[in-house]
Amino acid sequence: MCGIVGYIGDRKAQNLLISGLKRLEYRGYDSAGIATLSSTGQLTCLREKGKVAQLAALQVTNEVDDSIGIGHTRWATHGTPSIVNAHPHTVGRITLVHNGIIENYQDLKQILESKGYSFKSDTDTEVLTALIDSLYKDDVSLLDAVLGSLQLVVGAYGIAVLASNKPNHIVAARSGSPLIIGLGDEETFIASDASALVGHTNQAIYLKEGEIAVCRAGTVELYDIAANPITPAVETIESDMQAIQKDGYDHFLLKEIHEQPEALRSTLAGRLRSGSLYAHLGGINMSDTELREIRNIIVVGCGTANYAGQLAAYLIEQFTEDVSIQVEIASEFRYRSFHIPENSVALIVSQSGETADTLACLTELKRRGVRCLGIVNAVGSTITREVDGGVYVHVGPEISVASTKAFTSQVAAMILFGLMIAQAKGTSTQELSTFINDLNDLPTEIEKLITDLEPDIKTLAKSYAGYDHALYFGRNTLFPIALEGALKLKEISYIQAEAYAAGELKHGPIALVDDSFFEVALIADNWLYEKSKSNLIEVNARGGHVIAITDSKKHIQAETIVRVSTSLTQLTPLLFNVVLQLFAYYVSLERGNDVDQPRNLAKSVTVE
Ligand code: AGP
Repeated sequence: MCGIVGYIGDRKAQNLLISGLKRLEYRGYDSAGIATLSSTGQLTCLREKGKVAQLAALQVTNEVDDSIGIGHTRWATHGTPSIVNAHPHTVGRITLVHNGIIENYQDLKQILESKGYSFKSDTDTEVLTALIDSLYKDDVSLLDAVLGSLQLVVGAYGIAVLASNKPNHIVAARSGSPLIIGLGDEETFIASDASALVGHTNQAIYLKEGEIAVCRAGTVELYDIAANPITPAVETIESDMQAIQKDGYDHFLLKEIHEQPEALRSTLAGRLRSGSLYAHLGGINMSDTELREIRNIIVVGCGTANYAGQLAAYLIEQFTEDVSIQVEIASEFRYRSFHIPENSVALIVSQSGETADTLACLTELKRRGVRCLGIVNAVGSTITREVDGGVYVHVGPEISVASTKAFTSQVAAMILFGLMIAQAKGTSTQELSTFINDLNDLPTEIEKLITDLEPDIKTLAKSYAGYDHALYFGRNTLFPIALEGALKLKEISYIQAEAYAAGELKHGPIALVDDSFFEVALIADNWLYEKSKSNLIEVNARGGHVIAITDSKKHIQAETIVRVSTSLTQLTPLLFNVVLQLFAYYVSLERGNDVDQPRNLAKSVTVE
């Protein structure tokens, strides 16, 4: 997620902006920049692709004493990570930083180009900057130019704006992307979150949706989108940075589980035209003809990324008749003398984009001439620089070692790719509508599930946290969910959790069932219901302590039952997965473990 900072007062803005950006680094970014104005309106803008430290180095040789400025850390959405795409952007007398997505920026760009504007970057932000410049006249205040522009904009934004001929105030506005205004002694701060204010002030105004602030040194005027003045509500903010970055949650893991609906909306933004029931991915770099020729998909990943691929494979094969899908554990695949079927394409799945085993497979697959596409979260990571194209899942930084929101969005991104293949092969949107509708409904369904079930899962976890062994099992699309759920429990609670295809239990694993185990049975209300239920009965008959998780309303005999209520038809496994994420979190909490940094684990395994 991008980060915004701003300052106006009597101190050196450059230093304060850079230290503020350092506080926001946890949000994840791939480029950074600051812009300051002298008292005579001389602009000094420094931008760097990469880390804030590089920006600080640039400042050393471009030092100015300006006391007003704005800064930004950019998580690339429109346009690759680069200096030209980095914020702040300047057009005419206007300099701006922006969080969010302007959905109608292409239309606005055409209108502005017809007025003589030209653009250097690929970003929606530069278009917004030009739009404000086009309305900013000698008899039109910066506030009115911003208000007028925001009336024309469709999308989400948090912005901070400077005008070079008026270096005595900053205009900030919020719609969908948080902004906070810090009030100091003769100085005012702007930031995306309070972590950038800690140590400067604890008095702040949280901009509400649609509010605009005119910030001067130590004072703020607040307006609504219709330019009506608003009396600001000043609050005392938290001084614990970690607490701020967790946004009020006890752990990053719980925050990231709860973030999944928003993260998924970011993944799907602009990629699912629900009106025309059409999937579109920009970064695949494949024509419809090339998509039509695909006969085999090789999905490569480790851990959670691998399980996301396994679930995606079960789902994609349901709507692409002549495409086979093989899912490979990267650390095994790289050492096999594998054969590549004709017309193969590889999906390289990785949250960090830096996993050594996955990267090694990418290198070998490219050496063998296979087109490789990334399904990655970290923008600009090594894998994204080596693939032939791909899809950023855009879930924002995943801080907790256990992967949660990335899994859900990786599956969604791979389904979108499968839908593009099916569409290219002429499959009707009617035949694909259940998947497209489920993708559109999934964020809300996850929100509903968390609200409905989290309290019960928290209670349930206490009853099972004392066990040291567990068996997870499910059939078909619930088998990868059993694998992922068992991994979540293993890695943060240290309970030895094994996952099996439910049909495999009678081939050995059921010998394990005794009072030292509990079992998690995943039972879908579909054509395999009776088969799944019989697996449950087998385990019950041997004295199992079974937690049955099901979307069925039918009677089930189990020690504990968690019923998932949903309108989804195809993507219900992703709801079961959220239940298991929450279960693992609360079991780990009950066992007093370090939830976000479990023992022996790293967030990105860059070693082999
Ligand atoms: C998942 O909770 C684990 N942290 C781990 O299995 C992880 O998924 C695996 O190391 C792959 O990481 P990547 O997605 O960054 O490549």
